[in-house]
Amino acid sequence: MSQIFQTAKGVHDILPEDHEFHTFIKKVIRHRGRQAGFRRISTPIFEYTDVFVRSIGEGSDIVTKEMYTFEDKKGRSLTLKPEGTAGVVRSYIQNGMNQWPQPVLLYYFEPHFRYDRPQKGRYRQFWQFGFEIIGESDPALDAQLIQLANAIHKDLGIAHIFELQLNTIGTKESRKDYVGTLQDYYAGKERSLCEDCKVRINKNILRLLDCKEEDCRILAELAPPMKDYLDKESREFHDELKEYLDEIGVKYVENPKLVRGLDYYSKTVFEFWDKNEGAQNAVGGGGRYDGLIEIMGGQSTPAVGYAAGVDRLIANMKREKVRVPSKDELHVFVAQLGREAKKKCLVLIDRLRNSGIKTMGALGKGSINIQLKLADKFKVTYTVLIGLTEVREGTAIIRNMKKGTQEKVKMEKVVDRLIKLIGEQNLDKYTPGEVSTQ
Ligand code: HAM
Repeated sequence: MSQIFQTAKGVHDILPEDHEFHTFIKKVIRHRGRQAGFRRISTPIFEYTDVFVRSIGEGSDIVTKEMYTFEDKKGRSLTLKPEGTAGVVRSYIQNGMNQWPQPVLLYYFEPHFRYDRPQKGRYRQFWQFGFEIIGESDPALDAQLIQLANAIHKDLGIAHIFELQLNTIGTKESRKDYVGTLQDYYAGKERSLCEDCKVRINKNILRLLDCKEEDCRILAELAPPMKDYLDKESREFHDELKEYLDEIGVKYVENPKLVRGLDYYSKTVFEFWDKNEGAQNAVGGGGRYDGLIEIMGGQSTPAVGYAAGVDRLIANMKREKVRVPSKDELHVFVAQLGREAKKKCLVLIDRLRNSGIKTMGALGKGSINIQLKLADKFKVTYTVLIGLTEVREGTAIIRNMKKGTQEKVKMEKVVDRLIKLIGEQNLDKYTPGEVSTQ
């Protein structure tokens, strides 16, 4: 017997049912993004590895353990993008976007790749959408971004299950003192740390604060609080952000241990947690990354962004029994008997589709009865039947599959009659917009 192939470990197909969720989420993102002046960007699926190493950080879990890195035929090291911000920043610099009106507002909806341990809500290829605001520093922008995320959650019908976790990790300069304090605090406690944290302690000690392992958590609870070490600028920025969030009615939980797993953040960091699952499967997160553009070779430019996991959002929507409008359902099934009838059907199907009627034809062989059974399986409301008699008469039969009733209609009236039956508002009109050459 020949081998039956399976998907590679940690990846999954997006079947048509899930694509209905994908399409709906994409529409929400596009709509909310446009309303706020964001424009879409797509960066390549792979970049030179250094793009990610330099931005996400050499000591981060993503760079040390989770990247899909390979060499091309010329020996250049490339990596499948594990997140979206690094590529967007690379593009901002490469395309001279600092000459565009600032801030530059960009959004994306793309697949990303991480060699993560596969489990519920954790895949090796996953979809993320994200929003980046580059070129302006003001806590009001952070507040607006969080407000945008909330609006999206509301549109998706799952805002009530999320809790916004908020923290500030201050500017890089103000963190220096604190890192020293943490090093002193953890000195001699290495043996109690998990294997990952034993490595992190030398590479990125801040990450010890939001480790999920029990023993690490206990130690982190007792660690000196970061806020005591932040400079005035960082504290004032954070207080202002909270004032804005209060003003726009966004609830948050202050979480002094929230650090995030990417090294590029400064000041604001936030995550949306599922109230039932906590940090385990954050549905989205982001923060300010004022130093990143400079690290990547550009001029010093402030920025703030946020990204969410589409697969996780869909899982939450399904758990909450949220239904999205399905645009896939067919309106009409066309059944025929004989070659002459088939010719008429081909013309009719084309006219129906061009009128916005979603139509499928049983053009293979098979009795009318078999074709009607098929129509039932496709759950259409109307079937159009064309047999020898109808060809001779220049008519067609429209059958209401739900009621079991039928009527005979002149061939040239079939489209109008069906539009009336289906309802103008339910048609699937294809409206790409007018093109012009100017
Ligand atoms: P992140 O927290 O690493 O942030 O990822 C954002 C979201 O992507 C997560 O909250 C989660 O929903 C989803 N996600 C991450 N890994 C997986 C996985 N293995 N399987 C399924 N979903 C996953 C970032 O990526 C930052 N670039 C966000 C950002 C944008 N910060 C500033 N701008």
